[in-house]
Amino acid sequence: MTFTITRHLPEDATAAALRADVLAGLTSTPKSLPPKWFYDAHGSDLFEQITTLPTYYATRAEQDLLVTRAGDIAEATGARTLIELGSGSSTKTRHLLDALPGLHTYIPVDVSEGALRDAGTHLAHERPGLSVQALIADFTNRLTLPATLGPRLIALLGSTIGNLLPPERLAFYACVRALLEPGDALLLGVDLAKDPDVLVAAYDDQTVTGAFNKNVLTVINRELGADFDLDAFEHVALWDADHEWIEMRLRSRTAQTVKIRALDLAVDFAEGEDLRTEISATFRLPSLANELRCAGLDLARWFTTPAQLVGMALATPAPSGTSSTAATGRSTTCVR
Ligand code: SAH
Ligand code: AVI
Repeated sequence: MTFTITRHLPEDATAAALRADVLAGLTSTPKSLPPKWFYDAHGSDLFEQITTLPTYYATRAEQDLLVTRAGDIAEATGARTLIELGSGSSTKTRHLLDALPGLHTYIPVDVSEGALRDAGTHLAHERPGLSVQALIADFTNRLTLPATLGPRLIALLGSTIGNLLPPERLAFYACVRALLEPGDALLLGVDLAKDPDVLVAAYDDQTVTGAFNKNVLTVINRELGADFDLDAFEHVALWDADHEWIEMRLRSRTAQTVKIRALDLAVDFAEGEDLRTEISATFRLPSLANELRCAGLDLARWFTTPAQLVGMALATPAPSGTSSTAATGRSTTCVR
């Protein structure tokens, strides 16, 4: 068993990206931050706690789906390399690892070094035959993957795709499409449109989810010398019916000014003003299949849980000649 961990970008690039995101997000109206900054070691740990909350159905439902469908996915792909983006603890992934008999290499990719180290160390003990090549990287950037055996399966599970804004999502598909060769595939786990009360209940927990939401402020305090008072913000989860997504926000309890030393910036918050920290989008099959097709990805298989809680799309690169023309040449079939 080999376990390596490689940083894709130098640490100062990550620090620069945080500075840029905080400056842009806190000086715009309305204020927003990208959700990737939740995930320091504590944030990753809090996410794992969220997955055990009775109201947070998504992880359990996807786990059930993998238990029943990992064999089908293995048969359809015959993957020898599994690349998992936003792999976190790699817990659910074990069902895929078990089901893929010819798997040689597992490449977990995550911004959370702590999560990658924990998952890699455990996998090293459990699976002596597997090569684990972890990458500390941001999957919203263009990825350079190590040369490994094909066919390759790229997975983005847990509805992490739903945390990207629609233009970011399209850019992500385009990057994935560029990485795929004939015979490779993308496995995408998505949350499905459902009763908004069920969705709000999954996100409005004030204890663990509230702490997870506020952890982004702790990260900014530590990394950028800011003075956010966590108690001065309220954790809020709202259903956006037009977009069919949940928004997590931090609502300022009072009028206040926050100083961010590393940016030499003072940010005013009005009483009741919201800072959007995350969207969690739900999906419907027709529009999901269409946006994949627009990116040159054909829906090969579609799996859902019996209660239609979550779904999983297996997509393959459209034959060359059609794929690269997706955004333009197929504009009549790409409804955006
Ligand atoms: N796939 C796991 C974990 C989901 S939590 C599951 O389904 O349970 C989301 C994970 O994605 C976290 O581990 C977080 O650190 C990682 N992540 C979020 N944004 C990322 C980005 N832009 N690039 C790489 N990893 C990211
Ligand atoms: C990682 N991601 C898919 C989770 C979600 O459901 O959007 C993060 C999360 N946010 C609040 N609870 C969990």
